[in-house]
Amino acid sequence: MITTAEVISETSETVYHVQKGPDGTIVDINDFSLWYGEKQALFNNTIEVEKGLVTALIGPSGCGKSTLLRSLNRMNDLIDRLSITGQIRLDGVNIFEKDVDVISLRKRMGMVFQKPNPFPMSIADNVAYPLRVDGIRDRNVLAETVERSLKGAALWDEVKDRLKENALGLSGGQQQRLCIARAISAKPEVLLMDEPCSALDPLATIKIEDLINELKGRFSIIIVTHNMQQAARVSDNTAFMYLGEIIEYGQTDTIFTNPMSIKTQDYVTGRFG
Ligand SMILES: Nc1ncnc2c1ncn2[C@@H]1O[C@H](COP(=O)(O)OP(=O)(O)O)[C@@H](O)[C@H]1O
Ligand SMILES: [Mg+2]
Repeated sequence: MITTAEVISETSETVYHVQKGPDGTIVDINDFSLWYGEKQALFNNTIEVEKGLVTALIGPSGCGKSTLLRSLNRMNDLIDRLSITGQIRLDGVNIFEKDVDVISLRKRMGMVFQKPNPFPMSIADNVAYPLRVDGIRDRNVLAETVERSLKGAALWDEVKDRLKENALGLSGGQQQRLCIARAISAKPEVLLMDEPCSALDPLATIKIEDLINELKGRFSIIIVTHNMQQAARVSDNTAFMYLGEIIEYGQTDTIFTNPMSIKTQDYVTGRFG
């Protein structure tokens, strides 16, 4: 049970006990804050994300999960009147340094969104798109990448006979796996997923969850989800956010069964959210 003393002793210097991966940290978020204009959306967040593991971001709607996720590959750069303080390091390098190339940063950190967003082109062209943008024209290279990525996204068997068909003809679940194939075709190090199953039915959701388990190890995955069962099923570590602040970060089973903070406890037991 949670004692009052533990809650009172909780400070911003809390040491987090996470599941350690074999290869150390990949993303290091350090005292990171963000403002949309005058409105502060993130408050002094500090966590280290383990390489090769799955990290879930959970918390009630509007708490800043997407904002934090979009900060990691600088998708927020496109927003007017945005300001930040603190650092985010990818493999030790601060992504906000002047000489960081945002395009290559986004290549290293692929993103999958809430609503599947295939391009209105063929299945194969969707997957080959990131390579074409890079100027790769070699047909064999493109074909190999399409096959490898579709296999990696557990979609190959369903589409191998219709690679030239328009991707918009696929089911929602297939479209989302296609978006994952597109995201992994550029061989990113990190996969960012923002509620990737929220527009999918339960069966399609299970397939994506199985896929996340398969992709783990090869990629470091950071997944935002409002579905706590999903976070419990797929992630190694979980960060609970509330009002722009990471309240608690730790091994997923600890966060769900024996959290330090009363707020985490209230959220994971469904008392609010
Ligand atoms: N582009 C934006 N401009 C201004 N405020 C925003 C923008 N995006 C999000 N916000 C605000 O920032 C807060 C966090 O939002 P968000 O990161 O989308 O939360 P979550 O993903 O946890 O639901 C909310 O108050 C939201 O209204
Ligand atoms: Mg969101």
